[in-house]
Amino acid sequence: MELEKLFEAAREASKLSYSPYSKFKVGAALLLSNGEIIKGSNIENASYGLSICAERSTLFSAYNKGYNKEDIKKVAIFANTSDFISPCGACRQVLSELVSKDCEIYLLNKIKKYKRVSVEELLPFAFNKEDVNGI
Ligand code: THU
Repeated sequence: MELEKLFEAAREASKLSYSPYSKFKVGAALLLSNGEIIKGSNIENASYGLSICAERSTLFSAYNKGYNKEDIKKVAIFANTSDFISPCGACRQVLSELVSKDCEIYLLNKIKKYKRVSVEELLPFAFNKEDVNGI
């Protein structure tokens, strides 16, 4: 099943996480309209603030491959947690601009359950392009 394949990709991606400081491995996977799945993980740094979360890492990869919000149909985010992984504020902001409003976002946990949310649910009243243009 398409969703299970996407979820497995997010779980697989978490294994490549470079997180020697937090030891908290996160994986993300994007399903594109052409069927391709793009994976990514969190990559940390000794200068902690320079670390990047799995969500942004993966979204930036997709854009660097030439894809954009119209191409990204579903996003899965995995961490080996009891509760569903909850994206940080920075990633919510980036998601709100880099995926479309009808993109399906799946938050996963270790017992193979998921919670489906929209970008609007993750970040209502987001700062956006119109705000910048409206100065
Ligand atoms: N992290 C993510 O990659 N995604 C999230 O949704 C939450 C947090 C990362 C950042 C850092 O490398 C580690 O998890 C601990 O915060």
